[in-house]
Amino acid sequence: MSKTMIHLEHIDITFHQKKRVIEAVKDVSIEIKEGDIYGIVGYSGAGKSTLVRVINLLQVPTSGKVTIGDDVTFGDGKVQLAGARLRHKRQKIGMIFQHFNLMAQKTARQNVAFALRHSDLSKEERVKKVEELLELVGLADRADNYPAQLSGGQKQRVAIARALANDPEILISDESTSALDPKTTKQILTLLQDLNRKLGLTIVMITHEMQIVKDICHRVAVMQSGQLIEEGSVLQIFSKPQEPLTQEFIKTATGIDEALIKIEKQDIVKQLPSNSLLVQLKYAGHSTDEPILNDIYKRFEVTANILYGNIEILDNTPVGEMVVVLSGGTGALAAAQDAITSSGIELTVLKRGA
Ligand SMILES: Nc1ncnc2c1ncn2[C@@H]1O[C@H](COP(=O)(O)OP(=O)(O)OP(=O)(O)O)[C@@H](O)[C@H]1O
Ligand SMILES: [Mg+2]
Repeated sequence: MSKTMIHLEHIDITFHQKKRVIEAVKDVSIEIKEGDIYGIVGYSGAGKSTLVRVINLLQVPTSGKVTIGDDVTFGDGKVQLAGARLRHKRQKIGMIFQHFNLMAQKTARQNVAFALRHSDLSKEERVKKVEELLELVGLADRADNYPAQLSGGQKQRVAIARALANDPEILISDESTSALDPKTTKQILTLLQDLNRKLGLTIVMITHEMQIVKDICHRVAVMQSGQLIEEGSVLQIFSKPQEPLTQEFIKTATGIDEALIKIEKQDIVKQLPSNSLLVQLKYAGHSTDEPILNDIYKRFEVTANILYGNIEILDNTPVGEMVVVLSGGTGALAAAQDAITSSGIELTVLKRGA
């Protein structure tokens, strides 16, 4: 079992503004293991950024305990690490943002070098380190460009190099791909995944896009109104989301909603025959749905007409969804539904033939 890198226990963060009290984070507990890519999703205002400010030691929680690596950083509403150690700890946590936050008057090289201004390295070592970092993010040939001369993806690469300058153990990404197009987003995600593998970097990904979670995260927490409403492995969350908000987020990443709109327009569905059922099947871990569909034909003479199918591999496990029309005798249809359900496939009847 790998060790815990970030441990948040019962975190509350309350802001007082004039007469208003804002409970930005309410009783959130999260444990993130070393080397994990951990997603935190939620709509705007859910409290995600406020919560990560606790992780990168910029926000003292009103109550609750924060442990980063082996050190308790915050507890009882107070900082628990002495000044110098807190600053050192902070340097070991890199951060990247939506709008890159680069200095416009400095080149890529100078932006990265700036992060080393408090470093113990000699001048030569710093120069070498900056070269290595720019190489690592695939930007060696752009070292002398100013931010204005770089594309969004390239700017984010500079920001990543800068975030890694002090050899952090943790990298926090707060919507770092939100300003990028889908192709550039994929490239940046691939880079983050490489850094996670190569450097053993623990990555916390704040996002409102479930697709990003699906692409690179191992675990995910869903936040709503300051609270953590659901947490689990990406496989668990995608195959068996419990909360309505989580289900809503998942739908945006699977395309099932769009498929259902198209399916509803098909004649076979509009005029569903009386001996038929339109069902949605969801499964995780089976090699495929097809054997069970063959099986119900053989056993009950129920035919399955597949209208939509989608299989994805999450964490080495196939996770699939299908929309099929089952047709057969009344008793046979019921028996077939039972057989499907008892094989571990989740079945939802979308429509019954009139
Ligand atoms: N320093 C502060 N003072 C007062 N209220 C704050 C402060 N920081 C955050 N809040 C409030 O806390 C709540 C959570 O904000 P937060 O920025 O953490 O949300 P978020 O999930 O990151 O949203 P987004 O997706 O838009 O970035 C909001 O209601 C916000 O207005
Ligand atoms: Mg935010």
